[in-house]
Amino acid sequence: MSDYDVLVVGSGIAGLSIAVRLSRVGLRVGVVTKASLSDSTTIWAQGGVAAVLGEGEDSKEAHVADTLRAGAGLCDEEAVALLVEEGPRRVEELIDLGAVFDRTDAGAFALAREGGHSHPRVLHAGGVATGIEVQRTLVDAIEGAGVDVIEHSFAHRLLSGDNGVEGIEVLRGSGQRSVVTASHIVLATGGAGQVFAVTTNPPESTGDGVAMALRAGVAVSDVEFMQFHPTALYCDISPRPLISEALRGDGALLRDGEGARFVDELAPRDVVSSAMAATMQAQARNHLWLDATTLRDFEQRFPSLTQRLASLGIHPGEDWIPVAPAAHHLAGGVMTDLSGATMLEGLWAAGEVADTGVHGANRLASNSLLEGLVFGSRVAEAIAEGQRGPSPTGVLRALLAPGSGGLGVDEVIASHDMADDEPDSDLSLLEIEKQRLALQQVMTDDAGVVRNAHGMEHAASVVGALARHQGESPATMAQGELSNLCEVARAMLAAALQRHESRGSHERQEFPERDPAWQRRLVHRGGGR
Ligand code: SIN
Repeated sequence: MSDYDVLVVGSGIAGLSIAVRLSRVGLRVGVVTKASLSDSTTIWAQGGVAAVLGEGEDSKEAHVADTLRAGAGLCDEEAVALLVEEGPRRVEELIDLGAVFDRTDAGAFALAREGGHSHPRVLHAGGVATGIEVQRTLVDAIEGAGVDVIEHSFAHRLLSGDNGVEGIEVLRGSGQRSVVTASHIVLATGGAGQVFAVTTNPPESTGDGVAMALRAGVAVSDVEFMQFHPTALYCDISPRPLISEALRGDGALLRDGEGARFVDELAPRDVVSSAMAATMQAQARNHLWLDATTLRDFEQRFPSLTQRLASLGIHPGEDWIPVAPAAHHLAGGVMTDLSGATMLEGLWAAGEVADTGVHGANRLASNSLLEGLVFGSRVAEAIAEGQRGPSPTGVLRALLAPGSGGLGVDEVIASHDMADDEPDSDLSLLEIEKQRLALQQVMTDDAGVVRNAHGMEHAASVVGALARHQGESPATMAQGELSNLCEVARAMLAAALQRHESRGSHERQEFPERDPAWQRRLVHRGGGR
C-alpha cells in the first residue's frame, strides 16, 4: 500500500486548498514542502483575487473578455469560462474558511482595478497584503485537518511505472534521500521567477514542478511566456519588492526620465512592460518612475507598502517611486486538462506550475490566486470521484484529440542531451551560488522583456554549459534547485527561439508583430530520462 492516497508537493494556495478538501473526504493526504508550511509564493501576492461577486456594472462576460484580451489569442476559452464562472463560489468558500477581505465603510467589498481589467473587481486584504491573509486562512484550515505535513523536504524526481505515477524521491533537510509513495501526486510547486536575476519571486520559486515534469517526459507548454511585472521597486534588494498594480488602478502614473507619461498605465502588463523597456532603452536609464503622490489616504490603504518604502527612505506622498520591470509569473507550465490531470496517470498540477490555458500568452492581473482556487478545487473533485488519467479537454485536447477544437500545437525541439546522468557531487555551496547567479544574470540580460536570437543563443550556450554539471540526483537542495533552474531556462529559451513573433509577454526584436500563423502552443514532450 502507498504511503498516501494523495501527496501534494507545495504549500501555496493551490496545494493547501486541495489538501484541505481531500482530507475532508477521508483520503490519506500528505503535503511535502521544501520550506515551512507557511512559506510559499502565495504570501508574496499583493494585489488580490479577481472575481465578479455581485450584480452591478461589472459582469462575468466582461471578466472573460478581459482575460482573453490579455492572453493575446492563446487562452483556452473553456478554461477561462470555468475560471470566471466558478471563481466567485470558490472565493466565498475561502471567506467561509475565515479569509477577511477589505470592505468599504458601507460594508461592501472594496474592489480595486488593475491593468487589463475593464472594471474594478479585485478583492484584497490589508491593502496589498492579500497573499498573507489567504495563506493564513489555509494554514489554519490544514492544521485541524489531519494532513501530514513534511517540511524542509525537497521533492526532485517523479517515480512512475506501467500504471502511471507511483511516488517521488525526496531530499530531506538532513541530506537523507527517501521515497514517498502515493496513488496520486499533485504538483503545486509555484513559479519559476528565480530563473531571472531581476524578479519579484522569492528564492524558492525555482520551477521545481516544471523541471520534474520535463525530466519525466510529461508535456509542458507555453513556458516562453514569463510575465514581467512593470512596477517592481528599482533597488539592490532581491527579490525586488513589488509596487502593486493596485496603485496604478487608483491613479498612480508612470513617468519617464523627463517626468512625462508614455503609456496607458492600465493597459495589460505586457504592453506596459514593453513600453517601459523601450523608454528605458531610448533614454539610457535603468529605471523609470511611479508617481503616486496624488493618491489619497495612501498610508491607511497600503500600510505594508508604506512601511516597506519608508524603510528605504521613500515617502510616496512626496517622492516618485523608482520602478523597473521584473520577472513575475509564468503563464505556461505542466499541461493539464480542465480537471488538472496531466499526461501522466495519477499526476496532477495546479496553480502557477500548471498550464490550464487560462493565461494564454499573458496573465490578466490577479487571476492567479483565482486560478489556484478554482483549478485546485477541480483537482480535488476529480480525485475524490476516482479520476486518474487525463481527458481531452482544455489544453490537452490538442494532444489527446487533435483536430477536435482548441489551438494547434507544435513540438519544441529541445536538446535534452546536455546533462550528465550523475551530477558533480563535489560542487561547493559557493560554486552552486555562483552558477545560479550566472544563469540568472544571463537570462535577465538576454531573455528578458525584449528578446532576440543572438542574445538567446548566447544565453542557451551559458545555460547549457551550466547544465552539464547537473543531473537528477542532486546531493543538496541548492544543487537540485540549480538543476531545475537550468532545466526550465533551457525549455524557455528553446521555445522562445522557436516562436518567431511577438505575442503577449514574449517580445522578439526581429519579429515585432503578432503573427496569426503562430496562434499555436509550443509543447515540450521530452523523452524523459
Ligand atoms: C500586483 O499587486 O500588482 C500583483 C498582482 C498580480 O500579480 O496578480
